[in-house]
Amino acid sequence: MPVRDSSRRRFLGGIAAGTALAASGVGHAGKAVARPTPPIGASPDELARDEAFWREVGAFYDRTKGVLNLEHGYWGKMARPVQDAYLDALRMVNAQNSFYARKDYAADEAESVHRIARALGAHDDEVVITRNATEACHNVIRQYRGLGKGDAVLIADIDYPHFKSHMHWLGDGRGVRVVEIEIPTRANQVDIRKLYQKAFESNPDLKLMLITHVSNQHGLVVPVAEVAAEARGRGIDVVCDAAQSWGLLDYKVADLGVDWVAFNLHKWIGAPVGTGALYMRRGSLGKVAPYPGDGGTEDMNVAKRVHPGTYNFAARLAIPAALDFHESIGTANKEARLRYLRSLWTDEAQHMPHLEVLGGKDEESWTGIGSFRLAGQTTIEEATKLQQRLETEFGIFSVVRKGLASGGCVRITPQVFNSADEIGRLVDALRDLAKSAISA
Ligand SMILES: Cc1ncc(COP(=O)(O)O)c(C=O)c1O
Repeated sequence: MPVRDSSRRRFLGGIAAGTALAASGVGHAGKAVARPTPPIGASPDELARDEAFWREVGAFYDRTKGVLNLEHGYWGKMARPVQDAYLDALRMVNAQNSFYARKDYAADEAESVHRIARALGAHDDEVVITRNATEACHNVIRQYRGLGKGDAVLIADIDYPHFKSHMHWLGDGRGVRVVEIEIPTRANQVDIRKLYQKAFESNPDLKLMLITHVSNQHGLVVPVAEVAAEARGRGIDVVCDAAQSWGLLDYKVADLGVDWVAFNLHKWIGAPVGTGALYMRRGSLGKVAPYPGDGGTEDMNVAKRVHPGTYNFAARLAIPAALDFHESIGTANKEARLRYLRSLWTDEAQHMPHLEVLGGKDEESWTGIGSFRLAGQTTIEEATKLQQRLETEFGIFSVVRKGLASGGCVRITPQVFNSADEIGRLVDALRDLAKSAISA
């Protein structure tokens, strides 16, 4: 099949070359690709403070115009080499159309799956690409088989709001009780473990729990492995939301110690929007039914847990380029830099009496993401007003988060291309908020 082979190899030969030769800077479609090169010998913490290196990283990104954008928790901007790979893939898919998609795409997607699995430390047959973490997590929750009348499921206020509502929907539909625990606005690993432990002891009917690795509310890190081990000992199944943590924290999927994990690639991995992944550990598929109508009920293929229909082929083809770029910076370096940028504002803000800072009590429990509110102003309306003031008076873009038991807050999420000086601008703005907070 010479035509078929050449159409695919022209494109994919490049992807494969990029994958194999990332270190030498040869990338997609055989083009030379520049990528950041961290200085040899610098520890992540030392590198986190090296503004010159992060300026070099920042030069790979196009910046938001007209505002200082500190809302990068929504999705992660593609670096330019990733965007180029994506656009090349888009052009190829559009030109080759069904001839490519029907004949050769599956083999190319397998390469993207392989790269995801490798980066997570998983087997290829434990991973299926999804459009986002929502698709991955909702499917596990909906297709979970282990619930009956009289059982209970567990969520926490810091979980992603739509995942909590999906658990409530599951509860309503199956006559299952939903238990929701509240995590304090500042917490550490011990606090969180104790709260889950108490919930397990008080609710012996628990069968399934949702656990969030990094909360979208304020970047709190949950000790997933410890809590999941305790849950497993009590016969409770665990689905983990790692939508916000992959690429933000340096870990492998085995470190989470759970059977089912929902990931995003379009946040901190920097792949095109429309890319996520579902991990299901080997041997764990029996408790989650195939997508309704897909496969026999005993089908043990992870791909059968998702039915995306027709999707964005090009976005998935660009996943290896995104992982190449991400890995060229290094996850540990990225984690340390983002933590540092967050500490630059939270270290100041937590001593400002007009503010309440939300998130980790210590570094182990925190990430690059943090949140705050004006002291005592917990309504969504007050948080919305605060977000708008930051934008209109100080030119800083952020986002309101709803869902915490303690009320609304404003989330600040820097990216690798933000500088320490930009965070300094935020600190000045936070200080200035005191004037109007006092006069209000
Ligand atoms: C913790 C967390 N879970 C789940 C999601 C949902 O991600 P997506 O909309 O990409 O599916 C998000 C998105 O911000 C999130 O932060």
